[in-house]
Amino acid sequence: PSHIAVLTSGGDAPGMNAAIRAVVRSAVYYGKKVSGVYNGYEGLIDGTFEELDSRSVKYILNHGGTFLKSARSQRFRTPEGRKQAHENLVKAGIDALIVIGGDGSFTGAKIFSEEFDFQVIGVPGTIDNDLYGTDFTIGFDTATNTAIECIDKIRDTASSHDRLFLVEVMGRDSGFIALRSAIAAGALEVIMPENSITYDQLYQAIERAGQNKKFSNIIVVAEGNKLGNIFEIADHLKAKFPHLDIKVTILGHLQRGGSPTVFDRVLASKLGVAAVEGLLIGRNKVMAGVMHNQVIYTPFEEAITRRAYINPELIRINKILTI
Ligand code: F6P
Repeated sequence: PSHIAVLTSGGDAPGMNAAIRAVVRSAVYYGKKVSGVYNGYEGLIDGTFEELDSRSVKYILNHGGTFLKSARSQRFRTPEGRKQAHENLVKAGIDALIVIGGDGSFTGAKIFSEEFDFQVIGVPGTIDNDLYGTDFTIGFDTATNTAIECIDKIRDTASSHDRLFLVEVMGRDSGFIALRSAIAAGALEVIMPENSITYDQLYQAIERAGQNKKFSNIIVVAEGNKLGNIFEIADHLKAKFPHLDIKVTILGHLQRGGSPTVFDRVLASKLGVAAVEGLLIGRNKVMAGVMHNQVIYTPFEEAITRRAYINPELIRINKILTI
């Protein structure tokens, strides 16, 4: 390619700026032109591109969010929208695209790339960690660190009042954030899509905690769990344990913000470079990822459709430690 475009799409994630910076700087390093596209795929359709140089991405490495802004584009789901996007790219002389985002963004990237025989590489940027082909996605580490900082604070007040707190974390239909933050914050239980916990198991855990004189407790609830809405779960528990003081906290979009951790900055830097280098060696319709400390490229098809792997060892450890 001679001119690479980069965009961020879907829910933002801390470290996206660091990834954009890495893409821009490595493109410049290899003597390629590079343009930033504003508002994700919406910007491709509206033609809101801007050529960037190495100075355009100064002082962004440490900031959360994405300076290119992001969107979940409905228009890019239509053939007309994608046709317009392609025309704009061709008009600007752009011949390759890097998409920083999650599975929805890569679905769009795959369709677009096939339709117009356009070279596209993906960089996994989502707090959910739900993509196959990388051990970690950009933003996940920061989001889990934010989650445990909040849970630690909840624990202070939970402990002062001997209360049981249900804390909801994000993750869409996966429990990566829930499991990792439950372990790191010492939660009594975790309710997530992957462990299909029952009410009986929950009741037993709470009864056991009482027998062990553990009077304040945290239960981490993944938003996509199969047991139910967090308020319904709280109602069930209140009915079963009327003597307990039970509270609900939803962490929500807090988890999407903040300065990226060292881990996310380094991962984003690695993957931004890997995406550009992938384009240079002719990779197409793939996502750059890091597995076992090694950069690998996984076809979009696989990255989207195969289930990201929740380490069963973490589930086992959590069981042991909640005794
Ligand atoms: O994919 C990231 C994520 O934060 C999910 O964890 C959550 O379900 C969703 O995005 C929320 O989307 P929105 O920011 O559009 O409300």
